[in-house]
Amino acid sequence: MNNKDRQIYHHSRADGLLHPLRALVHHPRLWLSKYLRSDDHVLDLGCGAGFFSLRIARMLDSKGHVTAADAQPEMLEKLAEQSCAQGLHEKITTHLQPSLERIGVAGLFDIILAFYMLHEVNDRLGYLEQIQALLPPHGIFLLVEPRFVLSPEEYDLEVKQAKRLGLIPVVHPKIFLSFATLFSPA
Ligand SMILES: C[S@@+](CC[C@H](N)C(=O)[O-])C[C@H]1O[C@@H](n2cnc3c(N)ncnc32)[C@H](O)[C@@H]1O
Repeated sequence: MNNKDRQIYHHSRADGLLHPLRALVHHPRLWLSKYLRSDDHVLDLGCGAGFFSLRIARMLDSKGHVTAADAQPEMLEKLAEQSCAQGLHEKITTHLQPSLERIGVAGLFDIILAFYMLHEVNDRLGYLEQIQALLPPHGIFLLVEPRFVLSPEEYDLEVKQAKRLGLIPVVHPKIFLSFATLFSPA
């Protein structure tokens, strides 16, 4: 996949990401419960319309929080609508990235999730570097990519880039139709 081929999942297709049947195979309870504490601060990168942000927020208590970041304001608007409708607005902060290259959030996060988004980023190494800087020593970074978009070689390359920065692969959670690696910071 060349850089010029990379296209962002357009916000006009946001509803496809929120399909209720997806919860049967992609519910974060299936692969995150083991690592998530109820007071964690979670960063959901490329959150889209908030499929994961909303479900993770429900797994947190009043001390826990989700920062949901995306580069498309329309996705964040959709998420904000849903979080208000579901009474989760106090647990979720939306964050519009200043650019495709820059995450632009401050602080540290116990869990950082990049679900089906890193392959859409042109400068993956630069993006991974920023992720690493947002992780405390006990933090975890979960990278998940679609098997129906990336070849095993392309996914391996992403993992290699993360390893080059010192991120350590700990486990490969089994997630339907996906490649997944959980990293801890060096
Ligand atoms: C395929 S969607 C996945 C959305 C969500 N993670 C999910 O699984 O439901 C990819 C999302 O990543 C966002 N995205 C792509 N490149 C990005 C970048 N460089 N920075 C921030 N968000 C990005 C897109 O705007 C889109 O909302």
